[in-house]
Amino acid sequence: SAMLATGAAQAEYPERPINMVVPFAAGGPTDNVARSLAEAMRPSLGQTVVVENKGGAGGTIGTTQVARAQPDGYSILLMHAGFSTAPSLYKNPGYDPYKSFEPIGLVVDVPMTIIARSDFPPNNIKELAEYVKANKDKVSLANAGIGAASHLCGTMLVEALGVQLLTIPYKGTAPAMNDLLGKQVDLMCDQTTNTTQQIDSGKVKAYAVTSLQRVPTLPKLPTMDESGYKGFEVGIWHGMWVPKGTPKPVVDKLVKSLQAGLADPKFQERMKQLGATVLTNEANPQGLEAKVKQQVPQWAELFKKAGVEQQ
Ligand code: MLT
Repeated sequence: SAMLATGAAQAEYPERPINMVVPFAAGGPTDNVARSLAEAMRPSLGQTVVVENKGGAGGTIGTTQVARAQPDGYSILLMHAGFSTAPSLYKNPGYDPYKSFEPIGLVVDVPMTIIARSDFPPNNIKELAEYVKANKDKVSLANAGIGAASHLCGTMLVEALGVQLLTIPYKGTAPAMNDLLGKQVDLMCDQTTNTTQQIDSGKVKAYAVTSLQRVPTLPKLPTMDESGYKGFEVGIWHGMWVPKGTPKPVVDKLVKSLQAGLADPKFQERMKQLGATVLTNEANPQGLEAKVKQQVPQWAELFKKAGVEQQ
């Protein structure tokens, strides 16, 4: 390997495997993106990227773990839009979205789907609206904790339907999906990176997608916007970060490797199958920094409007 120090007594980064923290359970949407990306980044790094699942509290536990890790490039975070919601949802989120990290870049954008257990009575979004009104307080909605994508979308859904639902938190939407398949919970709004296969095989009922355009891999599924909920839109962008203070050459190497990973045809094909859009043009620190700056106040406003209180 090319680890011989050139002149200086410093080995070249990376000289050992890198830990990629996913702040949600294994086998779920974030994990699916992370594992594909870890594989796609390996050739350019010359090292393995090992995914560590650290779920809980809407992703804030795993995110905080990386914020507090050594800034040496061996701890990286793969998180999504929930990164920018923590300051408005938690009194002590454990990290500051502006100050705790060095951004590496944006990764993918993922639409969401509103789904139900296969034997849930409503057959479309209109019937769903009527059903939840008639069955107030009895309909359960799974999510991956306060601030998770499923919670963000769930909050928008509750607003749109005008009825409170009984929310049930999990450490990720992988275990939530298990309970939906087991018919222990009624509803969920979850990313296509976790739901495409279950929708295709008819193991869950699907009502709508949350993008303004239909998703090519789920062509029969109407958008919320076209189903009478004008302007209902949520896309879950994903980003990669390292702890604040990580040396510039290490950041630069990770940026290059992220870009190489996103350009990998196998990664692109997998993301396409799962309904995700690869954010090639914003896969750099400026792109991610701008996104976070725009998203933190946007979500704060939505939660204020929806009356969601800080934990
Ligand atoms: C996960 O990987 O479990 C999800 O991204 C959870 C979510 O944010 O809804």
